[in-house]
Amino acid sequence: MILKILKYPEPVLSQPGEPVTEFNAELRKLVADMFETTYASQGIGLAAPQVGVSKRLTTIDVSMGKNHTDKLVLINPEIIFQEGKLYEEEGCLSFPDIREKVVRAAKVRIRAQDEHGKWFEMDGEDLLARAMQHEIDHVDGMLFIFRMSALKRDLNLRKIRKMQRAGEW
Ligand code: NI
Repeated sequence: MILKILKYPEPVLSQPGEPVTEFNAELRKLVADMFETTYASQGIGLAAPQVGVSKRLTTIDVSMGKNHTDKLVLINPEIIFQEGKLYEEEGCLSFPDIREKVVRAAKVRIRAQDEHGKWFEMDGEDLLARAMQHEIDHVDGMLFIFRMSALKRDLNLRKIRKMQRAGEW
């Protein structure tokens, strides 16, 4: 089922998600729906708050559905190590048509639970590291617009307000 993706400034997007404690069929259905929604939107990642579920859950697939082994479910994720810096363009499904350069660590190690509740650690670099940081930010209630420079952030907030007034947001 394709879910509705909430756009900024829906309040749930700015709230830290609750930890996931039940690893049941309902959770697995949400995970499946989140992947389906991401692919339908041609995104590479989605976090539960973006579909109105205030939980610490995110799905990532940097292959956009092309490579099954790239499907990644991160539950209660945290970054336990990071190094380097990359300044690359980034987008977000909750900010349609907005792309901006954002500083991220070049490499990260994350710790998370899978959809059965099993803890694992995983390294990511480049695009995967960027996606992990962007999505883990989402479950913390942090949005990429607040990772931009103040100048770019204000420019984009003005652009959003203009689109809102025109009924295009
Ligand atoms: Ni996003």
